Amino acid sequence: VRRLIMDVDTGTDDAVALMFAALRPDLELIGVTTVNGNVPLAATTDNTLRVLDWIGCAGVPVHPGLARPIVRPDFPSARHFDSGGADDPHGTALDIPEPSSRAQAQGAVGYLIETLRKAVEPVTLVAVGPLSNIAAALALDPGLAGPVDEIVIMGGGHATANVTASAEFNIWADPEAAAMVLTAGFPTLTLMTLDATHRAVVTREACRELAGLGTSAGTAAARFIGRRIDAYFGGTGDDAAPVHDVVCTAYLVRPTWSGQVRSRSPSKRSVPRPWAAP
Ligand code: BDR
Ligand code: CA
Repeated sequence: VRRLIMDVDTGTDDAVALMFAALRPDLELIGVTTVNGNVPLAATTDNTLRVLDWIGCAGVPVHPGLARPIVRPDFPSARHFDSGGADDPHGTALDIPEPSSRAQAQGAVGYLIETLRKAVEPVTLVAVGPLSNIAAALALDPGLAGPVDEIVIMGGGHATANVTASAEFNIWADPEAAAMVLTAGFPTLTLMTLDATHRAVVTREACRELAGLGTSAGTAAARFIGRRIDAYFGGTGDDAAPVHDVVCTAYLVRPTWSGQVRSRSPSKRSVPRPWAAP
């Protein structure tokens, strides 16, 4: 069983990735950290608690993290469109019941450092939001990448972008954090780009099958993905949409399922470090 911590900015695709990780018998979701992204931190935290409660996994601890990017005061421009996000007609909250469970008192950064430093078995880090929390943890503990078995990041794009003509949302929202994470020396860093997630679109037919399962997770996944298909503005046609974040958790159980880019952490010099003294 693969042990993982997920860092999320729950929106609809994060929600599907969380349910996948929490319910798969071959994955053990030991904790979740939340970050400002699709919607503000309070909403990403509330949505995460809603999802875990909804599927009967309220025992998974949720640790709120950064409410803003690590260097800039906010995103480069107005918040990114995302179903289950601030632009969604449903508002910032996922349309499942309000949570009964509460977030932990310990913040995301302290939780990440304490948990990764004391881990006796390998821990995989799955980061599917802006990388502010991971970067902040690295700023406090620069060697933190060492004990992480693998970090899987939903981010970036080669031939595909979504928030500007050339940027993907998670990287765009906190580029300094992304640069810090990509150069931190994680032994194995897997970047799941939009090029991969756009090859794994989910259809309305698949949503009907999910709804047909009659389970809480199937019902919610059908609802959230159906909203993505309704709202999605990408070139995936009107009957399917990418569910970006779940490709990262699916990759953990079927590495051949996606076109992910596996790379060793780039050398320190290979990424511009605008904040570093010349
Ligand atoms: C990423 O941005 C958000 O909209 C999604 O949750 C995903 O993590 C895709 O660019
Ligand atoms: Ca996300």
